[in-house]
Amino acid sequence: MASALTFCLLLVAALADSVFSTQRTLRSWVNLGCGEPCRERNVTTLYLRADGPNDTLHYLWDFIGTPSVLLAVTPPSVYLNITWDDYLARRENSVVFLENSVVFSPSYSFGVIINKIIEFNDVNDTALIDTADVTNMNVLHSEYFNWRLVSLLQNSEFVSLDMEGNSYHDTAKNISRYGSIKLSLRGFCTVDHSDMVPHMLHTENSTQVDIILDHIQTNQTFARSRFAIELLAVGGGDPDILMFVDPKKSLDDEHTPGIFEVVEVRTPPYREQDGALNAGSYLQWRPVSYISASRDVTSSTETVQYPPKQVFNYTSIKNSMLYCYYGDEIANLLLQKIMVSLGSKGDGFYKKTNYLTWTFIIGYGTPPEERFSSLVIMIISIGLGLPLLIMVITGLYLCIRRMPKRHGNAYLNR
Ligand SMILES: *[C@@H]1O[C@H](CO)[C@@H](O)[C@H](O)[C@H]1NC(C)=O
Ligand SMILES: *[C@@H]1O[C@H](CO)[C@@H](O)[C@H](O)[C@H]1NC(C)=O
Ligand SMILES: *[C@@H]1O[C@H](CO)[C@@H](O)[C@H](O)[C@H]1NC(C)=O
Ligand SMILES: *[C@@H]1O[C@H](CO)[C@@H](O)[C@H](O)[C@H]1NC(C)=O
Ligand SMILES: *[C@@H]1O[C@H](CO)[C@@H](O)[C@H](O)[C@H]1NC(C)=O
Ligand SMILES: *[C@@H]1O[C@H](CO)[C@@H](O)[C@H](O)[C@H]1NC(C)=O
Ligand SMILES: *[C@@H]1O[C@H](CO)[C@@H](O)[C@H](O)[C@H]1NC(C)=O
Ligand SMILES: *[C@@H]1O[C@H](CO)[C@@H](O)[C@H](O)[C@H]1NC(C)=O
Repeated sequence: MASALTFCLLLVAALADSVFSTQRTLRSWVNLGCGEPCRERNVTTLYLRADGPNDTLHYLWDFIGTPSVLLAVTPPSVYLNITWDDYLARRENSVVFLENSVVFSPSYSFGVIINKIIEFNDVNDTALIDTADVTNMNVLHSEYFNWRLVSLLQNSEFVSLDMEGNSYHDTAKNISRYGSIKLSLRGFCTVDHSDMVPHMLHTENSTQVDIILDHIQTNQTFARSRFAIELLAVGGGDPDILMFVDPKKSLDDEHTPGIFEVVEVRTPPYREQDGALNAGSYLQWRPVSYISASRDVTSSTETVQYPPKQVFNYTSIKNSMLYCYYGDEIANLLLQKIMVSLGSKGDGFYKKTNYLTWTFIIGYGTPPEERFSSLVIMIISIGLGLPLLIMVITGLYLCIRRMPKRHGNAYLNR
């Protein structure tokens, strides 16, 4: 009985798994067509194409200036073209999409800038950055880190790029800091859980960004430093509607031990020219930050997100690849910032380990729903099936034991 139930549930799970296996083929290039100017300046720009049967997702991961990610959806015949001299000088329209050498406008595009790392002095141990005042806050602009490529892995199913930012020097304020910020980007071709804790569920339409703040020098005048990260989102969608933040309880913590929540940020959906409703993009993360490289439950703390805000002045974007692509058109696009602070009340602040992580997914379309895995289904069915089986057997045994007794009594009475 229990095993039959288990078998049926496993079959359903396996079928559900196979339904989800739409695949894309990945192809990627570093500094495509650049050559000498890029070698000279030691820069890293990765172009990733994820070709599906009917469309292509283009990704550009850029570490010149402010680190940023661009995502665009086009027919498979469209290619990305970078005019390198203009691109390195951060001029607008130096990134274009071409179809047969004609400029092509993608049906959808979206970009994320890892804009600022904010240090704040959490005097009252609230772990909330919005209670800190200006004198208790220092802004680190990620463009002032010196970014270098640490490792790169490229094949048709998986692309990963590890970058490290060191030697922070704010040229405007003449402030230097030691310590490093590590950024790892991952591109995927199918739906699965990432191999890196917190094992985020990704689709073929998503990119994972992992940030590590490793021994970043804190301000000497701050006794209780914590860090927050500010992202800027740019792209299609109504600029006047704020992105929607939705912290969801998840079904189980099988993939991220101890964490039963997923925070989801969705861009407002909008009508395309042909009348179809575009779901836009999303950001997704588990509200957990690890305070050591082992990334286990005991070495974790929480994250706190704050409501998105519209940004009107896009001067700060001019030193990013997204300006090279969108140019002054940004003024008409959705442009919002969202902040996430790392740490929770009583966790000992950044100085405890001088290490914090944050992992999030940037995805196109509708976020995937976490489903029970076959293992969990098996455990549940055994958990429900076994007591049922025992009850049935006990019931049968009692019936069988009683029956001859009654017969015997009847016989004797006669
Ligand atoms: C470029 O980066 C590599 C490490 O990624 C480093 O060894 C090399 O010295 C750098 N070159 C210049 C010119 O900065
Ligand atoms: C691709 O397009 C064809 C024809 O338009 C359609 O039959 C097929 O379902 C599409 N495939 C996907 C994955 O959208
Ligand atoms: C980009 O376009 C220019 C001219 O439009 C061309 O010379 C160059 O080869 C193209 N680059 C790539 C990578 O296609
Ligand atoms: C910290 O708490 C004290 C006393 O409750 C209060 O006066 C002060 O404004 C708080 N400071 C911050 C930054 O919240
Ligand atoms: C430390 O914080 C103070 C006050 O916000 C600021 O004036 C100073 O420049 C900061 N020092 C560093 C090294 O960031
Ligand atoms: C920048 O700061 C350093 C010390 O931190 C100092 O030696 C240097 O003179 C300063 N440079 C300028 C241009 O102020
Ligand atoms: C990925 O994007 C394509 C359109 O480009 C869409 O048809 C597909 O459903 C998306 N996949 C997921 C899992 O959202
Ligand atoms: C935008 O911000 C920059 C500094 O970041 C400032 O110089 C400029 O005046 C601002 N522009 C407007 C229109 O507020």
